[in-house]
Amino acid sequence: MKKPFPPIYYSDYLQLDKLLKSQSPKSDEYGNPAHDELLFIIIHQAYELWFKQIIHELDSVIDMFKMEKIDEKNIGIAISRLRRIVVIQKVLIDQLNILETMTPLDFLDFRDYLIPASGFQSIQFRMIENKLGLNPDNRVKLGNKDYYSLVSSEHKKLLLDSQSSVSILAEVDQWLSRIPFIETPEFNFKKKYGEAIEDILKNEKEIIINNPSLSVEKRDKQLKEFENTKLNFEALLDENKHNELMSKGLRRLSYKATLAALFINLYRDEPILHLPFRFLSYLVDIDENFTTWRYKHALMVHRMIGAKVGTGGSSGHHYLMQTAEKHKVFGDLFDLPTYLIPRSELPELPADLKKELGFYYTGKIKKEK
Ligand code: HEM
Repeated sequence: MKKPFPPIYYSDYLQLDKLLKSQSPKSDEYGNPAHDELLFIIIHQAYELWFKQIIHELDSVIDMFKMEKIDEKNIGIAISRLRRIVVIQKVLIDQLNILETMTPLDFLDFRDYLIPASGFQSIQFRMIENKLGLNPDNRVKLGNKDYYSLVSSEHKKLLLDSQSSVSILAEVDQWLSRIPFIETPEFNFKKKYGEAIEDILKNEKEIIINNPSLSVEKRDKQLKEFENTKLNFEALLDENKHNELMSKGLRRLSYKATLAALFINLYRDEPILHLPFRFLSYLVDIDENFTTWRYKHALMVHRMIGAKVGTGGSSGHHYLMQTAEKHKVFGDLFDLPTYLIPRSELPELPADLKKELGFYYTGKIKKEK
């Protein structure tokens, strides 16, 4: 940085004149001032500012992952940006507590002035969902309306553009699919993992059959559960079954990417896999935090308006609970622990591969005497 720069004034830099003049309560305008409307406006504006920051971080991560070959350094940077999103989300969740200092009666003092505006029309919130990779076919409809139907035509275009642009989920899929370690001339992860699972399942079945303390009914019940577990593993080991689940929207990650994510989770103690493991864990954190926010928002809405319809026209609390259930992006990563096996049962990696996955010191760099 070359110096000197012209001096700058705090208020000008932050454009506080504009920012602090951007709260215009409708209740004042209609001559019926409601004390809590300022809080309602400021809370929403604070959310939108944090949404802007989240989009800034997501865009930078998407850009890094667009590269054909991702620089190892960038994975570290991407992780620190995802972590920042996670910390911001905690503030977003806590911020609802401030709004809850407003009582339902206080809200009623100005609520009718807001119709038909609603958080449902938050463009940045929708862009975050799209940039993460929320499946448009999975979206809960408001009545029979799409999420972009209640916004201006200019905003609708922005939303449709972001829906068809590349998402974190799609980028991560590509990146995982390129990870080389799962099939080398000496090591076929799928085959080795399949053999380990076969042994584990055989053992488990024998334990159930030979357990003398189980009644006939209990044994049958446990055997049924065992068959379900077996089916789950079979689906993981069978690419066609996986693709069938994908075509029904029940899986989002490609088969290759799923195997790579499993490999990273199972062998995360190998030094080279630490960062990819942390990266995937932050994606799960982000999804979980949005779900937590959705539940908390839905509960707050229930407390605030009871069973009334929302200002945007939805069934209110009921609609919001449905989105909390369904609007998840990284469900495949959430499901991975189903397929984890104890470290002691993990197929051993060949020595060469283990060396590749470690921080391999050749001894060529010597300490100065
Ligand atoms: C008194 C406070 C609030 C009430 C009563 C409320 C009520 C509602 C209702 C009923 C909906 C469903 C759509 C509709 O029919 O309008 C909704 C959606 C939404 N609200 Fe709120 N809200 C409040 C505060 C907030 C705050 C502070 C934010 C922060 C940005 C927010 C963001 C959203 C978002 C993003 C949606 C869309 C959710 C989705 O479709 O998944 N709301 N809100």
